[in-house]
Amino acid sequence: MSEYESHQYDIIVIGAGGAGLRAAIEAQGRGLRTALICKSLFGKAHTVMAEGGVAAAMGNVYPEDNWKVHFRDTMRGGKLLNNWRMAQLHAQEAPDRVHELEAWGALFDRTNDGRITQRDFGGHRYARLAHVGDRTGLEMIRTLQQKAVSMDIDVFMECKILRLLPDAQGRISGAVGYWRATGEFVTFTAKAFVLATGGIGKSWMYTSNSWESTGDGHAMAIWAGADVIEMESVQFHPTGMVWPLSVRGLLVTEGVRGDGGVLRNSEGTRFMFNYVAPMFRAETAETEEEADRWYDDHANNRRTPALLPRDEVARAINAEVKAGRGSPHGGVFLDIASRRSAEYIRRRLPSMYTQFKELAGVDITATPMEVGPTCHYMMGGVRVDADTEAATVPGLFAAGEVAGGMHGANRLGGNSLSDLLVFGRRAGIGAADYAEGRTGDPEVDGAEIEAIVAEALAPLGRNGGESPYDLHRDLQETMQTLVGIIRTGPELEEALEKLGVLRERSENLTVTGGRVYNPAWNLATDLPSMLTVSTAVAQGALARKESRGGHTREDFPAADPELGKVNFVQRQTDDRGPDAPIIVSPEPLPEMPAELRQLLEEGQ
Ligand code: FUM
Repeated sequence: MSEYESHQYDIIVIGAGGAGLRAAIEAQGRGLRTALICKSLFGKAHTVMAEGGVAAAMGNVYPEDNWKVHFRDTMRGGKLLNNWRMAQLHAQEAPDRVHELEAWGALFDRTNDGRITQRDFGGHRYARLAHVGDRTGLEMIRTLQQKAVSMDIDVFMECKILRLLPDAQGRISGAVGYWRATGEFVTFTAKAFVLATGGIGKSWMYTSNSWESTGDGHAMAIWAGADVIEMESVQFHPTGMVWPLSVRGLLVTEGVRGDGGVLRNSEGTRFMFNYVAPMFRAETAETEEEADRWYDDHANNRRTPALLPRDEVARAINAEVKAGRGSPHGGVFLDIASRRSAEYIRRRLPSMYTQFKELAGVDITATPMEVGPTCHYMMGGVRVDADTEAATVPGLFAAGEVAGGMHGANRLGGNSLSDLLVFGRRAGIGAADYAEGRTGDPEVDGAEIEAIVAEALAPLGRNGGESPYDLHRDLQETMQTLVGIIRTGPELEEALEKLGVLRERSENLTVTGGRVYNPAWNLATDLPSMLTVSTAVAQGALARKESRGGHTREDFPAADPELGKVNFVQRQTDDRGPDAPIIVSPEPLPEMPAELRQLLEEGQ
């Protein structure tokens, strides 16, 4: 082994957002020694940025809702690139997971007769999102965290994992990282590892993601030889704050539109009516109420075109701004003030009220918000078995945002919270089953640990090189301008060229100071993940020569039915690690059973 501090468990879960917590609860509940590792403070996770609710077909507000409709909405929202089995399990199991959470202490908002109430969200045919005001993710984290603590799950926080380690038979058996507080290295061994590291948003300039979302799990899986899929499918949430600049990208929950908010351009026009099929346009309506009623009658229960799926709304906002009809700070207006009472807004959207009041000096009960698209969620990720969440290398499991397949080319709002509950639990079971069947103690190669440690320390021992902050800024600018909402072949090629140069520059990073809580060093150790993942996104986007869901190619504006039958799979083959090439290839989607295919064809 090695000279470093080391810990051994049956199961190690990397990432302590909703998926990681749920997986750890399941594994520990099976009587296996389980630990959670998180890069940040325990309880601080991007899960809290799913504010508006958790999608589950409980039928509390619309009794006609059921898992079949939820399945259909999810598949249609994902433009049919979803792994059908994941979408099926998700729709079937989400209600149980929400009720379980309630039994563990989550305090959801209620209907008048005392059941969990549900709100509208984009692309969901029925009001389906169980919520706690606009703080649903926070309540979920609070509840899961309390449950995990009550089960005595060991938590290692402020610990950055650098790399996964295989044993001699290629089974993932270890991980090496360092404590952010001291800079000292630490190793972990376990019979199974669950990745629950969340997303990749910090590679873009404007994002709802916090500093932790650097794609560590995506990158570590690639470097370990696992397949990733659909890396081109990045979600830009239509409504982030655009001003003040210091908070640009911060999420404005879809719950604002779910609760009646509408989008207007600088001319005061509710422009979303112009982005729906011509038969749904309400240009001839004389009043807003008439337009709403007309739309409601024609549009499949979606109460306002502002509640179309996120990819469609984000593209429409982008187009309005480009056409010169944007708000003063480069967004559009989100108006709930003229449509709901101040009391209703403060009760249903307390966080949004405080967020705008404190950060922008705007009272949303009286004034519209300025909003624009923000990089929010990664649909692509580690290719997993739908039932067990096993990755394509033995000993590795993945759940939540780091896993791919569930959401296809576009995720519906609220489906992330249900995803992490359903598949967090399943990953815990999958990892526990695997660990119980595995023989011998997990062992890893000490020389490999030394190489990883040396690589991490290199920027501290170098003089006169590049600042990690400069490199990060240039990466964000590249991804924002060349791999954003609207993409073209030449721009993606330029992005890949630039990413290659950034990769070379990253060999020459210099960090001053020591290892103790040194944010520049921490960033230097995050950059390899960001560069690998950004490259995979750009490669996938170049390969998918069509527009589908969150992936829009200006040079291929239509969906291509043939490409609708494949996932783009990426993997490293002979060489592994940050410098090794990633191969992209199309592979057929799993065949959907006839009865589910029929479900998709039913309903309007
Ligand atoms: O808008 C929101 O509240 C975000 C929800 C989600 O991403 O699922």
